[in-house]
Amino acid sequence: MHNATHNAIPVIAIDGPSASGKGTIAELVATELGFHYLDSGALYRIVALAAKQQNIAWDDALAVAECAKNLVIEFKNSQIFLNGADISEAIRTEEMGKGASRVAVHAAVREVLVDLQHNFCKAPGLVADGRDMGTVIFPNAPLKVFLTAATEVRAQRRYQQLINKKQADNDTQSSYADILQDLQERDARDQGRTSAPLIKAKDAILLETDHLGISQAVDYVLQNFQLKNCK
Ligand code: C5P
Repeated sequence: MHNATHNAIPVIAIDGPSASGKGTIAELVATELGFHYLDSGALYRIVALAAKQQNIAWDDALAVAECAKNLVIEFKNSQIFLNGADISEAIRTEEMGKGASRVAVHAAVREVLVDLQHNFCKAPGLVADGRDMGTVIFPNAPLKVFLTAATEVRAQRRYQQLINKKQADNDTQSSYADILQDLQERDARDQGRTSAPLIKAKDAILLETDHLGISQAVDYVLQNFQLKNCK
């Protein structure tokens, strides 16, 4: 659990569905405050990649959890290493996004990743993005934000991101329709699972980003953080 030591360190928990803008917003808030940043989705993507490399089926809860226990994961600046290999790009594909949401349904897998996530909580503070940051991993976070946007808006953003990264052709040849369908499936799986489902924490602020620019969303989070700190 999020223990007393961690409680002294401020955490901003930012949760929401895929492509809601969480990652970009959380990273910018962290930079602005000089806080550490946890991209918890990357951990599930790494587990999916490692399982695939070891020919373990994503649906095999115990084998995937065992595989997750033995991973050596290092975050160095914006690069991520798995057992010494740079996998920063390899985990960003649509396939690994889907794989991440398949391995993330298993309670045994989630359990293995808890300490790893708590270890990111260091002075002067942490901005943590994911699905269960405010509900399960950092329930005492002084500020929780739940970001969301219409499915079509999120699918369009994701599609644009892939085009910008020139992955649309050489990755999955994803069309907008494929991406929309993947997002809908991923939302359903994330919201419908019994272990740490995607849900707004009761004390989280809801922020809809359909018509909001990135910098407006970042300012909104920063203003709310200042308000909390002044109490
Ligand atoms: O945020 P990202 O798209 O990288 O996350 C990939 C998948 O990992 C999500 O669809 C979700 O199933 C899972 N995940 C999770 N809990 C988190 C972060 C991500 O279950 N805290």
